[in-house]
Amino acid sequence: MAVIADHCPEITVKVVDLNADRIAAWNDPDLTRLPVYEPGLDAVVSRARGRNLHFTTEVNAAIAAADMVFLSVNTPTKTRGVGAGQASDLRWIEACTRQVALAARGHTIVVEKSTLPVRTAETVQTILSAGQQGDDGNAKSFSVLSNPEFLAEGTAITDLESPDRVLIGGQDADALEALAGVYSHWVPTERILRTNLWSSELSKLTANAFLAQRVSSINSIAALCEATGADVKEVARAIGTDSRIGSRFLKSGPGFGGSCFQKDILNLVYLCLHYGLVEVAEYWEQVVSLNNWQQQRIAKLVVQRLFNTVAGKRIALFGFAFKADTNDTRESPAIRIAKDLLEEGAQLSIYDPKVSAEQVQRDLGVPPAEGEACWQQSLDPVQACKGADAVLILTEWSQFNALDWHAIASAMRRPAWLFDTRAVADIKAARAAGLQVWTVGEG
Ligand code: UGA
Repeated sequence: MAVIADHCPEITVKVVDLNADRIAAWNDPDLTRLPVYEPGLDAVVSRARGRNLHFTTEVNAAIAAADMVFLSVNTPTKTRGVGAGQASDLRWIEACTRQVALAARGHTIVVEKSTLPVRTAETVQTILSAGQQGDDGNAKSFSVLSNPEFLAEGTAITDLESPDRVLIGGQDADALEALAGVYSHWVPTERILRTNLWSSELSKLTANAFLAQRVSSINSIAALCEATGADVKEVARAIGTDSRIGSRFLKSGPGFGGSCFQKDILNLVYLCLHYGLVEVAEYWEQVVSLNNWQQQRIAKLVVQRLFNTVAGKRIALFGFAFKADTNDTRESPAIRIAKDLLEEGAQLSIYDPKVSAEQVQRDLGVPPAEGEACWQQSLDPVQACKGADAVLILTEWSQFNALDWHAIASAMRRPAWLFDTRAVADIKAARAAGLQVWTVGEG
């Protein structure tokens, strides 16, 4: 929304939320305190905020005044009831749609921005149609569009500034063109794709499923490389130069994380099962199973290399976010790996340049403490390694390319290990400093 406001000064953009604290944070004069850390976001907000970009809790007034309403709410995986563990929980989409149905005036284009199961637009349309016949005395009408978001965290602003494509699905040609008109302020026309509603909804799930599949595929080959003496970086380079395969999303790691991949694949699985496509569901489910296996195998091999026990041993975790350049830890592989190591009795010192101790506590479900099966936050990589038997790199923060391995090694207990699950460290320097090294995809 901030990028739309930035590129379209004649359009007033109001970002509304019932959560007053969150809106206050978006309005904070100190741009380092925006609720989301995303490179470049502060500059965009500072240009548009107060001009044509406003953050407010006045939800109904903003809906009433709007020509277009974007539904951008959370759709996490259901934890109970029918479809628990696979289907998306649509309660917030439904609540928002009901509010739009009530508060809208005149004709309103309602845009699904959240990632939604296929055919959710039908539900949105049904709720809005019921509102159309409402008894508040105001004539109103709605058009529903699907406009899924393809930005990735950490590169959100550049992804939005120059997207590979913008996808708009819908039946109402006028509504479709109105939204295309907004994007055409900065996106070349040939990159604005128009489809029917269901293709648009399904394309979003499919794009994430294909990307996640690449990560699981390369992680499966990483394990084979470690066993055979091949090097996964070399294999990735060799296959990536085939233009039919392409070079991106071929980095092996501790498994994919983030709020989207797993949720969207499970959604796809649920959809396939709903339509009786059991083999198709099983095919996609395997991408998630392989990801779980990859996370578990990392924790296991750390224990194995440390003489089959980590009870009471100090292990430094470098990185807790699910990828670099974000403070987001949702579904981060670090959570599962840290929990497995705590289960084995390790003492973890966790260093991440952007993730707060409060967030780690929420993710691990236990407060920081000293001693066996406990974790503590460290504010500096060398301090994190004091007395440690191993360093485990879990996020590819660029600063981990240039760590001072001599300082780190001299703070550690010998024999000392580096486990680099992102293959980002200068392993020559680490070896020269006396560490034993394990790298994903190389062994
Ligand atoms: C993903 C998609 O890339 C976006 O296009 C999509 O819009 C977004 O989900 C969404 O649905 O909202 P995101 O989850 O932010 O974006 O991050 P990615 O860059 O896709 O990374 C996901 C996970 O895969 C991370 O844990 C990352 O470390 C891992 N990954 C990625 C690898 O392990 N290897 C790779 O080569 C690439």
